[in-house]
Amino acid sequence: MLAAVRAKITVVGAGNVGATLAQRLAERNYADIVLVDIVEGLPQGKALDMLEAGPIVGYDSVVTGSNGYEETAGSDIVVITSGVARKPGMSRDDLVMTNARVIASVVRDVARRSPDSVLVMVTNPLDAMAQLAHAVSGFPRERVIGMAGVLDTARFRTFIARELDASIEDVDAYVLGGHGDTMVPLTRLSTVAGIPVAELIAPQRLESIVQRARDGGAEIVNLLKTGSAYYAPSAAAAQMVDAIHLDTRRILPCSVMLKGEFGIQGLFTGVPCQLGTGGLVEVVEVKLEPEERAALHRSANAVREVIELLDSRRSDIGGTVPPLGTGVLVGASTS
Ligand code: NAI
Ligand code: 2OP
Repeated sequence: MLAAVRAKITVVGAGNVGATLAQRLAERNYADIVLVDIVEGLPQGKALDMLEAGPIVGYDSVVTGSNGYEETAGSDIVVITSGVARKPGMSRDDLVMTNARVIASVVRDVARRSPDSVLVMVTNPLDAMAQLAHAVSGFPRERVIGMAGVLDTARFRTFIARELDASIEDVDAYVLGGHGDTMVPLTRLSTVAGIPVAELIAPQRLESIVQRARDGGAEIVNLLKTGSAYYAPSAAAAQMVDAIHLDTRRILPCSVMLKGEFGIQGLFTGVPCQLGTGGLVEVVEVKLEPEERAALHRSANAVREVIELLDSRRSDIGGTVPPLGTGVLVGASTS
């Protein structure tokens, strides 16, 4: 039988997030999956196990594992999860130099073999790693997109739904900013069946829900002790892959290189983005109140500090890393 040319999606990093994501994508049955990791046998073993689940679950996705990049050539989408995850007491930023070395080397390999791919970044610290991937790949901003906002928003939606015993389908929430302690859950724009959450939940209670969403990653790290969250993160990355691969045009909070939107120039920060074929279709500028814009800028400023650190230590990352830029914030207090 003549095989149709199937889409190819590569997942780099066959650890908790990467392997769970590969399984979720295989089960969607819309692409072949290549799983890459540096640990010998790990991606091959997990890929074979997933392939053998196909007859039971009912998918034809071919899942291949590799320690190299030959099999990844010509990928349409590459999701990068390789690196080190947080341990208790570590912030996402503690991971910066270790993961920068991994990301620079992986992105060089990926970009060479799949020059037209869309990169979906997962590795932390997310916004800085996405900015590094953008610089190293030389890809346009449309094709380098960071996953964090979908996860942070999902956590916020979960806690609102549990508080009100509502269906998560009726809960819409907004979380903007960098993937860190300064992320900005926007209660004004968060609703349950169209009703603003502030009308349904008392202010103090709402504030504690906001804080729980901000600390959502650390809460799971403290419970697991040996790693960080991966079921919700892999589901979040899969939703972004769906939007790109299926051209759904969904508007999802993603970290992208801003070019003046929201008064932020030259920095990856989480904002509402429409995703479709080719990656970012457009940044959707929502009108923010002055204090919301200031909070977004404070968050972008925290991202900038990590990027400045990375930029100042570019020679320690290995290989040639182009300048990452320092970013500019205009129109609101950044203190
Ligand atoms: P993990 O430790 O389970 O898996 C990471 C995998 O990367 C390991 O299998 C490791 O062998 C592999 N790896 C390391 N260096 C590599 C290289 N040079 N090439 C290929 N593979 C390499 O970690 P987990 O839980 O999967 O998390 C992965 C990353 O994603 C971490 O940095 C974590 O902080 C981040 N993360 C980000 C989230 C977000 O919202 N953006 C959410 C959850 C995790
Ligand atoms: C999370 O938010 C660790 O960034 C990861 O779960």
